Amino acid sequence: MTTFLIAVGTLCAICVGLSLVLVVADRYLSDYGRCRITINGGSRSLDVRGGQSLLNALGGEKIFIPSACGGRGTCGLCKLRVRSGGGPVLPTEDPHLTADERRDGVRLSCQVKVRNDLDIEIPEHLFSVREFAASVETMEDLTYDTKRVRLALVAPPEIAFVPGQYIQLQCPAYGDNPEPVYRAYSLSSDPADPRHAEMLIRLVPKGICTTWVFTRLKPGTPVTFNGPYGDFRLHDGTGEMIFIAGGSGMAPFCSILAAMRQAGNPRPTRYFFGAKAVRDLFLLDEMKRFESDLPDFRFIPALSAPDPTDLWNGERGLITDVVGRHYPDCRDKQAYLCGSPGMIDACINVLSGRGMPPENIFYDKFA
Ligand SMILES: Cc1cc2nc3c(=O)[nH]c(=O)nc-3n(C[C@H](O)[C@H](O)[C@H](O)COP(=O)(O)OP(=O)(O)OC[C@H]3O[C@@H](n4cnc5c(N)ncnc54)[C@H](O)[C@@H]3O)c2cc1C
Ligand code: FES
Repeated sequence: MTTFLIAVGTLCAICVGLSLVLVVADRYLSDYGRCRITINGGSRSLDVRGGQSLLNALGGEKIFIPSACGGRGTCGLCKLRVRSGGGPVLPTEDPHLTADERRDGVRLSCQVKVRNDLDIEIPEHLFSVREFAASVETMEDLTYDTKRVRLALVAPPEIAFVPGQYIQLQCPAYGDNPEPVYRAYSLSSDPADPRHAEMLIRLVPKGICTTWVFTRLKPGTPVTFNGPYGDFRLHDGTGEMIFIAGGSGMAPFCSILAAMRQAGNPRPTRYFFGAKAVRDLFLLDEMKRFESDLPDFRFIPALSAPDPTDLWNGERGLITDVVGRHYPDCRDKQAYLCGSPGMIDACINVLSGRGMPPENIFYDKFA
């Protein structure tokens, strides 16, 4: 038995060693020279350094593809159609691609390495994504782990976006983080003020970008971001709208509500906000102002684990249970959800179970 375990251990060590040698050799010894990327049937072409990811090669040429996980192959947002030259689909891409997408040559651009000439397709609207230079105007603590970061735009000086969209903030190399990474943050700003971009950022313990935001950003710090991205936005309709968010999922709703106020939007709207305890609630005064300014809006915070010292007369329980109690029948309503994937999936289950058609449910998963 001992001999068998030693043999298996040795074999594993050899495999790991060989993999490392291959990775290091590919990283430092392979020279793919210059490669040509042909875009949209030849309407543009780029001459780039081989060996980098397709996502980085395009970013280097100021063509910005959504990439919320910073190229780790986990968000699935960086999809592009690769008509030729991309090599086989990698196991890291598999979970993110449907059978139709695989057949059509759709790939995760962060996983495709530029090793030779490529022929790709990029949706036209992504060419209007811009890079912005800005500077931090204010940083405000909303709770112990959430900050409102307000940026003043420098160049270009204004941003046009649809409320609900997000940007990708560049976190530069710092400390143990050797290279810049990008992370997605929904805009919480009032779209009527295009000279500022505002975000609500929640600290993720040991997170690369949020640690940088919480420890290094201060008023006056220059920052870079690109965007806007995403199709989370209000959709036409007349029935009641149910907004559901948790934590920093509050961000896009601030922007959406500001636009609703500007337009005098009369649609009945109920906003359910899930938090653990009183210390996790924020922007309560702003929500009260929306309640008085909008014709038919109510903000309904709910606590799932209030502290024994919390004086709380509001809703209690998981946000899914609270929504379920309010709406036995959701057939003629629309829902807009924003927050963690787990919360969103649980809410979709509840709403679908109460008759809401899938085409009436819109969401942005923060993952
Ligand atoms: C479309 C979109 C919009 C987003 N909008 C916002 C927003 O408005 N405000 C906001 O605060 N965040 C938002 N996010 C999340 C944000 O992009 C980052 O993922 C998050 O800030 C963590 O980045 P980080 O570099 O600090 O952590 P990382 O270094 O990326 O992660 C460190 C570790 O924490 C885990 N982790 C990552 N994110 C979370 C999380 N949220 N909770 C628990 N564990 C996590 C990772 O799996 C990893 O193990 C959004 C994400 C998407 C996809
Ligand atoms: S950037 Fe997230 S999967 Fe490619």
